[in-house]
Amino acid sequence: MQVALRDAKSIVPSSHSPIVPTAAMTTLSQQQWIYRQQPLAQITTEHYELVERQLDTGLGADEVLLAARYFSVDPYMRIGQSGKPTYDAEPHPLNTVQQGGVVGQVLASNAAGYAEGDWVYSYSGWQTHAKVHASGLKLLDPAQAPVTTALGVLGMPGRTAWFGLTESGRPHAGEVVVVSGAAGAVGSLVLQFAKRHGARVLGIAGGRAKCDWLRDTLGADWAIDYKVHDSADSLGAAIRAATGGVDVYFDNVGGMVTDAVIPLINRRARIVICGQISQYSGGLDTPELGPRLLHHMLYQRATIQGMLARDYVHRMDEMVRIVAPWVRAGQIVFEETVVDGFAQLPAALNSLFTGEHRGKLLVKA
Ligand SMILES: NC(=O)c1ccc[n+]([C@@H]2O[C@H](COP(=O)([O-])OP(=O)(O)OC[C@H]3O[C@@H](n4cnc5c(N)ncnc54)[C@H](OP(=O)(O)O)[C@@H]3O)[C@@H](O)[C@H]2O)c1
Repeated sequence: MQVALRDAKSIVPSSHSPIVPTAAMTTLSQQQWIYRQQPLAQITTEHYELVERQLDTGLGADEVLLAARYFSVDPYMRIGQSGKPTYDAEPHPLNTVQQGGVVGQVLASNAAGYAEGDWVYSYSGWQTHAKVHASGLKLLDPAQAPVTTALGVLGMPGRTAWFGLTESGRPHAGEVVVVSGAAGAVGSLVLQFAKRHGARVLGIAGGRAKCDWLRDTLGADWAIDYKVHDSADSLGAAIRAATGGVDVYFDNVGGMVTDAVIPLINRRARIVICGQISQYSGGLDTPELGPRLLHHMLYQRATIQGMLARDYVHRMDEMVRIVAPWVRAGQIVFEETVVDGFAQLPAALNSLFTGEHRGKLLVKA
């Protein structure tokens, strides 16, 4: 898989269009990744099938035809493949297009307010083209921010970071905030938002290069590479030596990292359970039993709260109003890792679990 590290600010929206329908064209060739088989551990191409079909380009009322340009790959996709109920009562249905957020361009429109060439966000999933009702589209303005930010800092990961931190973490100036998964899409934003609240921030990530980036580029006060620690006790000792104790723990990963942090919480600490990625590849169906840590909640009168981005969809504009000016002013680092090629989608999704990327992981059509 070719992985290219790029700064989002250097991504110029292009008007490339592999297939532009003409008046005479009534179908176009569409590729789709179909979710075929439930993974028990890591995702491979055998869990997906790449199919090609002819898409009728005729549009119904208020529909647009769009060409996907950028696809989001997100850890929740693996949660949706769990065999047991998770966010939703039912797992992602087999034999359907993998769901997911997309930034695309309008090829043809039968909907007021959308014209050929417009950039849009849609939840149209892993397919090169889609016919989408206008109610499922959000118009993007490339003059305001790079269009890819609709999948990252100004999209679902931004909403998760902002509301997870401000509504559940509620950091005060001077408090210690610890963020796990700190070099990822959500964690890298939580870290920076916490700094803007005046907190002292420790980022935990895998590898020295990521930790250097947390400190030198994102402004973390401390960064710790969890991969050099072989036990929660060892990692916990390093966290204690740096911070002294933890007021807010924003947890993206769970597992050993969380086992290390929870015994270090201060009085009235707030623990935000945003994600548990260390458990997704099989662990959701057969959870490993960890040490019993809840007694620390008792001693410290702490609060633990799960947060879900979808609960804040109605407040999306509020987040964008606050964060977009920081993005435009260059006050937020929103790095994106862009993998080239529609064919790479399943491999890119699996790479979320091996941690090769920094910031938001995207696939370019
Ligand atoms: N609650 C919500 O609504 C919501 C919304 C969005 C995301 N999330 C959750 O937030 C977390 C981060 O999501 P994201 O989109 O920002 O992904 P991400 O952090 O960009 O990518 C995942 C990162 O997780 C780390 N990781 C993978 N396996 C790990 C393991 N076994 N132990 C420790 N770290 C591991 C890797 O970084 P390292 O190299 O540092 O290991 C990897 O780069 C996920 O748990 C996700 O499910 C929740």
